[in-house]
Amino acid sequence: MAKTGLDNIPFSKAFFLVAAMLCFFCAGCGGSKHPPVELRYQQEEAVKDLQAKDVSYPQTRFVVLSDPHYYHPSLGTSGPDFEAYIRDDRKMLAKSDEILDAAIERVSREKADFILICGDLTKDGEKINHRHVAEKIENLHTSADVYVVPGNHDVANGISRRYTKDGTEPVASVSPEEFKKIYADYGYASCLDADAASLSYVVEPVPGLWVLALDSCLWRENEAGKHPVTDGRFPGQTLKWIEEVLIRARQQEKAVLAFMHHGLMEHYPANEKYYGQYVVDKSDTLTRLFAAYGVRLVFTGHFHAQDITTKSPEQQAARVFDVETGSLVTYPCPYRTVAFSGDGTCTIESRFIESIDSVDKDFPDYARDFAFRGTIGLADKALEGYWVSEKGRDILAPQIAEAYVAHLEGDEKPPEEVLTTKGTGLMGRIVGFSQKDLVHGWWTDLRPADNSLTIDFENSAGSNDHRH
Ligand SMILES: [Fe+2]
Ligand SMILES: [Fe+2]
Repeated sequence: MAKTGLDNIPFSKAFFLVAAMLCFFCAGCGGSKHPPVELRYQQEEAVKDLQAKDVSYPQTRFVVLSDPHYYHPSLGTSGPDFEAYIRDDRKMLAKSDEILDAAIERVSREKADFILICGDLTKDGEKINHRHVAEKIENLHTSADVYVVPGNHDVANGISRRYTKDGTEPVASVSPEEFKKIYADYGYASCLDADAASLSYVVEPVPGLWVLALDSCLWRENEAGKHPVTDGRFPGQTLKWIEEVLIRARQQEKAVLAFMHHGLMEHYPANEKYYGQYVVDKSDTLTRLFAAYGVRLVFTGHFHAQDITTKSPEQQAARVFDVETGSLVTYPCPYRTVAFSGDGTCTIESRFIESIDSVDKDFPDYARDFAFRGTIGLADKALEGYWVSEKGRDILAPQIAEAYVAHLEGDEKPPEEVLTTKGTGLMGRIVGFSQKDLVHGWWTDLRPADNSLTIDFENSAGSNDHRH
């Protein structure tokens, strides 16, 4: 597979059948390369005592947005190569400048103490795009502090390029040091502490609350001319740094929340099986670590969907919530507001970009259509590669696109039959059968609700969600 990211090509050639085979052959081969890290909370009595301390989130209100994938129009928005890129991509890149402006205008009007951006700030880590993003953040008409983390596209990207009339030309990406410099005012210069092994840091935006900004990306493994590594992982040194910060937070009675690019946990059944690169490696170890130190909320992005899931590791009462926020350049173009009441509850609401100047018609309709039609096109191409008849493709592709778009939107309400293969021919039935769990997974809304909900941390065995 030349491209592995769903945010680039969700229905690549290898999507059907081969994905399932690869998952089968790779099962069990993930652990040996990365030996387990010994964490202190499991062994040291003094640290165990700290865990019992009750530290709750102080009253505050903040905004979360993700995956703006900024692309400056001066890098080219026409020509056969750009058109080919857009055809194989679910992002409205040509509109990203306008969409980010619209988001900044909306967010400026929110009464927020701080703003978190969960990575994939740029299309492909282009230095010029990072500079424009930093400039736009500077123009936010608000006193709120802004904090960023890198996404897999943002650092040492081997395919940073501009599009010309008859091809592409490479442009500079950024080194980790340059990333820190460009975003010095958005976390790196004001942090309490930073990890030496990654672009992670910790800040205290409001008294009593520490925000762990985690770099889950593998930019060290990126290669020139190749798509950046989609997977996410924390090296042992970073895991140890995270625990040291969490211990200090407990000692100083600070509540902690985290944000990072990769999902902390599965967002639908079969997420790991088909798109494991969207969930951070050692997801359970990390969830247990967070639960042990009372980190109840982790904000993530990467998959471009609106989805919240939760886990309560055995023998630990604390439930951890992974609040994934969709991409600004992918339907439904959301951002979230989060309010801690100060007495143990948290209310999350979602807002959506409603209009941009260059789109006359209803923008949410335009964005949905862009995602839906594009997905049909990619699914059709992939199905054709597996000899599914035209009639079969016409039946299957729209069902796959409906499931995918429903997952992007969140709060999925599945139809009675999520995937019918009737009339699709032999190959249609085989492909439909082998991929049914993925389509079913996209239609499955794991608890709690995805867009609007109130979480009661004191009583969070089930969250007090607003789903009907
Ligand atoms: Fe992304
Ligand atoms: Fe990503």
